[in-house]
Amino acid sequence: MTTVYLNGEFIPKDRATVSVDDRGFIFGDAIYEVVRVIDGRIFEWDAHAERMARGLAGIRIAFDCAAVATLRGVCERLVADNGLDEGEATVYMQVSRGAAPRTHYFPPAGVKPTVYAAASRFVVTRAHRETGVKAITFPDFRWLRCDLKTVNLLGAVLARQAATEAGAYEAILLRDGVVTEGAATNAFAVVDGTLRTHPLGNLILPGITRQVVVELIREQEIRFEERPVTQGELLRASELFVCGTTTDVSPVVTLDGKPVGGGAPGPVTRRLQAALDARLYAAAVASR
Ligand code: PDD
Repeated sequence: MTTVYLNGEFIPKDRATVSVDDRGFIFGDAIYEVVRVIDGRIFEWDAHAERMARGLAGIRIAFDCAAVATLRGVCERLVADNGLDEGEATVYMQVSRGAAPRTHYFPPAGVKPTVYAAASRFVVTRAHRETGVKAITFPDFRWLRCDLKTVNLLGAVLARQAATEAGAYEAILLRDGVVTEGAATNAFAVVDGTLRTHPLGNLILPGITRQVVVELIREQEIRFEERPVTQGELLRASELFVCGTTTDVSPVVTLDGKPVGGGAPGPVTRRLQAALDARLYAAAVASR
């Protein structure tokens, strides 16, 4: 039986229930995180914790940095209690504004946030990394605070569903004629020999994998610019890849049914995949 964490307790998953008045359920009024775990070691905990605390402060949920810091131990215990110390896993964490009678404005002070976390076995699909994935383009009709990792994910849900119905893995989102990111990934493209991605700001999630990939790009001295790729440039990109906690660096080899570049993973993508693997797995080995 899977053990999960809910409001201070480690309990069997089938006993973990939340109120129908929970604002996470009623309004999507919550912040979440997904962390990667390799051999019991959480990848880039500090960066995830910092983003989560920033998101909670951004929507004014009273759960501060110190409270977020305590979730590290929660994640580690969930990994151990569920027999996930070896191999790969993810932990999902969510903090909502709590349960209270439905009002759009915040509930009275004193309503406690609902805190939930669960660990599960997870391995990035080998074929995605090795042979690449198919993607479609899709309109980015999300709200204007995409930098906050809220559970309000309808824009991503509808985009991923459209991708799935088209037999593809990811949707590359377009807003005002430029690529913002993927539905659940950040997107990078090689255009005229320069690797490009959308700059940070309110229109994309500051992905933790994106942050690591940018460090690796600088280490590898790859020609790089944080400048949006236009729809026209996307059509002639020689390489396209997406990255994220549940994706690593995955090459996109087909976009809207047409091959990207040569229709196979390109050299820049391959270099960054290898460099990210070294970071992911070296961190696990170093902590032993
Ligand atoms: N999604 N952009 C969006 C919109 C995302 O939802 C995600 C992650 C990313 C990549 O961020 P990171 O590298 O920190 O995982 C970018 C998670 C995995 C999810 O919703 O399950």
